[in-house]
Amino acid sequence: MTASAPLEPDVADERLILLLVGAVGAGKGTQASILSRELGIPHLASGNLFRAAMAAGTPLGEEARGYMERGELVPDETTIGMFMEELARPGAARGAILDGFPRTVGQSTALDETLAAQGERIRRVISIEVPTEELVRRVAGRWVCPQCGTPYHAITDPPRTAGVCNKDGAQLRQRDDDRPEVVRARLERQVPPMLQVVDHYEGSGIVDHLDGTQPIDAVTASILSRVGARIRS
Ligand code: AP5
Ligand code: MG
Repeated sequence: MTASAPLEPDVADERLILLLVGAVGAGKGTQASILSRELGIPHLASGNLFRAAMAAGTPLGEEARGYMERGELVPDETTIGMFMEELARPGAARGAILDGFPRTVGQSTALDETLAAQGERIRRVISIEVPTEELVRRVAGRWVCPQCGTPYHAITDPPRTAGVCNKDGAQLRQRDDDRPEVVRARLERQVPPMLQVVDHYEGSGIVDHLDGTQPIDAVTASILSRVGARIRS
């Protein structure tokens, strides 16, 4: 895949906030990791932040653990503060790819207000759409790097060396919340609020609906062409 064209000078100064929306296993993390490299802006993933907090044994991680194990959303009061702190870091000054946040209308409103107070806005919302049976198949074969969060798939996206992360050499693991009963709960409980988030942005004309069943590089190319076209318009 070729790298995306550089941003036009007139928009290159505007902070590039891209939101990836999709159900469990839709490919948000996979695409965000590639886009981060292609666009040179960080990948901020609420799920990865919670997992890092759990691994570090912080109060935030302990609070999130029960919700995640049951396939429920962590309450907005906790999630919004955590994510806004990340978005305010100097590393995200040029922009960020948001993976998994916002995923309730309350989170969307909080984010919109924070950005508006700084004269900023979400530039594009990419809705990655995949049928449920394919989502279940994907998470069953998923292996994840515990250090950087990069996801792999045993068949469709294996690492170069079996069981080892391409980026940092860490030993890959399966996620605790990828057990079939937790995946079912995540789909049942989290898809309806996710659809409300898409609706929330639909009226602003910034949502692109993508067929997430295409191969990984085709999904990336599709996102880059849409993002490139829209941020230049
Ligand atoms: P989170 O970690 O965000 O989980 P999720 O949203 O359920 O999404 P996943 O990470 O499971 O899927 P993905 O879309 O990233 O897919 P991936 O790229 O890995 O959140 C975990 C938990 O944290 C939540 O359940 C909740 O409890 C809590 N939480 C997080 N954010 C929250 C928030 N904002 N508010 C409240 N609570 C929150 O791909 C999946 C697999 O498919 C991989 O194996 C990959 O290799 C493969 N694959 C990807 N694309 C393709 C393709 N095109 N073709 C074939 N295979 C593919
Ligand atoms: Mg993910």
